[in-house]
Amino acid sequence: MPSDSVHVRAPGKINVYLGVGGRHDDGYHALATVFQAVSLFEDVIARPADDFSITVHGAEADAVPLDDRNLAMRAAKLLAAAADYHGGVALEIRKHVPVAGGMGGGSADAAAALVACDALWGTGFSQTRLHELAARLGADVPFSLHGGSAVGTGRGDQLNPALARGRFDWVLVTSHEGLSTPVVYEELDRLRDAEGALADDPAESLDVPIPVLQALRSGDAVQLAASLQNDLQAAAVHLRPDLEETIRQGVRAGALHGIVSGSGPTVALLCADSDTARSVRNTLQEDGREALQVYGPVPGARILV
Ligand code: C5P
Repeated sequence: MPSDSVHVRAPGKINVYLGVGGRHDDGYHALATVFQAVSLFEDVIARPADDFSITVHGAEADAVPLDDRNLAMRAAKLLAAAADYHGGVALEIRKHVPVAGGMGGGSADAAAALVACDALWGTGFSQTRLHELAARLGADVPFSLHGGSAVGTGRGDQLNPALARGRFDWVLVTSHEGLSTPVVYEELDRLRDAEGALADDPAESLDVPIPVLQALRSGDAVQLAASLQNDLQAAAVHLRPDLEETIRQGVRAGALHGIVSGSGPTVALLCADSDTARSVRNTLQEDGREALQVYGPVPGARILV
């Protein structure tokens, strides 16, 4: 039955491993990645309406488009078309994940909008159907539906759950200025062309290294720290050289290791435990950095009751 309003919470993510292969004809790159959903959430509230509209709250609300460039708007319209639903929805987004930060905030909005509209309109789509729609919206949207820990292949949208034990404690260092994901991928292509690397599409040979999966299974932060890798990092650092110093600063403050999250510029610092993470966050904040303490894995998009 359609209801008055539906509140959905969806997580941002860190790619604890991001292997990038060659570029396909559609412009997308082959990926082998491991996602971890972390405790920084987007809240989306869907209310009945005749038309489609979006309002955004949060420190970076001004940076978020309210039209069809907004992935949550596209998600709502895609679901309406797929379900042959003729009404609209008023979406309220409460943003916490950095905008253009490499943590999948826009993808989380889209995942939350799909789940919220499905419930509001009584569409009753299966998880599989929602996953298909999510994959059409963007490479990271299926993972925000899924949550937890998962291996992503293809464009990052073909998911398999990864076993994970315990929790991992992170400090995120955010930036005022975002990085555009397509621009970072283009920079990677440019750097690789300059090196003469990757003449052939290496998609077949792309694989997540076993130690990454073992570290997740054992819940061992030291082991995970040793296997953190992001092939987009060199490109992000080329565009934002200060990110390297941010990682060094985090390690000096006590983190085990740090990486650029996705296409950046958010830096994710893995810590041995929550006490260490708190201390690293405090040190960075005292140095004037925007730092947040989070943990993962956490569940995917879900309705709050
Ligand atoms: O799918 P999404 O909209 O999140 O991707 C944003 C951009 O990131 C794409 O337009 C593409 O330039 C780049 N991308 C890529 N290969 C992927 C995922 C994203 O090149 N597997």
